Amino acid sequence: MAILTIESTCDETAAAVIDDDGRVLGDCIATQEKLHEQFRGVVPEVAARAHLERILPVIDTAMQTAGVGPDDLAAIAVADRPGLAGSLLVGVVAAKSLALAWQKPLVAINHLHAHLYACQLACSEPIYPCVGLVVSGGHTSLYHLTSPLDLQYLGGTIDDAAGEAFDKVAAMLSLGFPGGPAVSKFAAQGNRKAHAFPRSMIHEDHFNFSFSGLKTAVRYAIVGPGQQDFSKVVLSDAAKSDLCASFEAAVVDVLVAKSVRAVAKFDVRRLVVGGGVAANGYLRSSLDAAAKRHEFEITIAPLDLCTDNAVMGAIALEKIRRGQFASLDLDITPGLQR
Ligand code: KG4
Ligand code: ZN
Repeated sequence: MAILTIESTCDETAAAVIDDDGRVLGDCIATQEKLHEQFRGVVPEVAARAHLERILPVIDTAMQTAGVGPDDLAAIAVADRPGLAGSLLVGVVAAKSLALAWQKPLVAINHLHAHLYACQLACSEPIYPCVGLVVSGGHTSLYHLTSPLDLQYLGGTIDDAAGEAFDKVAAMLSLGFPGGPAVSKFAAQGNRKAHAFPRSMIHEDHFNFSFSGLKTAVRYAIVGPGQQDFSKVVLSDAAKSDLCASFEAAVVDVLVAKSVRAVAKFDVRRLVVGGGVAANGYLRSSLDAAAKRHEFEITIAPLDLCTDNAVMGAIALEKIRRGQFASLDLDITPGLQR
């Protein structure tokens, strides 16, 4: 028996077929990066329409690749929270329709918990108890986990998410969308100490984050205080690299410091990290170094499971084991931060 998992929380339309042991039998992702590139960010209306066009072909492809039909499915799982309302609706309505038509149980997935479950998928031993950091385009949150489904929210961003800050800095420097990979490429050539950007809340004894001040500091470094017009600014590649490197260092310093503090406070032996920004090379190497220094284990989601995908929807198997099913009146929960 296998399950079908559906993911449409932001701008990737994805489906996967996963067997009882968590093996991926089929997997399909349709990315919308090209559609949103011209706007330098995800446009919710555009995303919802694109999901609508793609959702059935994506599900079809995942099932065909897996070589399964409706009769082989034990359940249908879908991410119902958090995310963009229009995007979530497409996945949830598709899942409910198929569950009704094929008479299958429905399972609701929290997208953020799934990002952390991607770490369990990459690890041969149980990762719990642990501290979990989700760093994505929409979220920057810390949790204490005692199982895949038992998570205590410790704190999160009070303004921009880390990935959003990467995307906005990339937009200021005309580096394209999504900004993370481009900023990180320039950063690799730059001087991380060229600009003394703020590390907001780094020493404060709580687990919240703030990245909007950092974003403003980068803007001032490019155009000066009070200025908005980036079109007249001409920067050399070396200057862009220094800005990106100093920005990236500021984000990474805060993420590492807060995560290390959470590991110590909850006295766990492992930190797990998921979400699109977890693909960042400098964050990965800095977390590795911190783990060695402070003597804890680290599990970062593999690169293909960092950004949005349906494979991490394997967390649905844990819910099925606990008998946690959703009803056909399942609704979306866009804004839930936990
Ligand atoms: O998890 P994800 O695919 O979508 C959300 O749930 O938000 O994360 C997308 C975010 C984008 O902001 C993107 O710029 C960022 O992840 N990202 C990166 C890197 N690759 C993707 N940020 C920094 N460095 C990267 N290499
Ligand atoms: Zn995500």
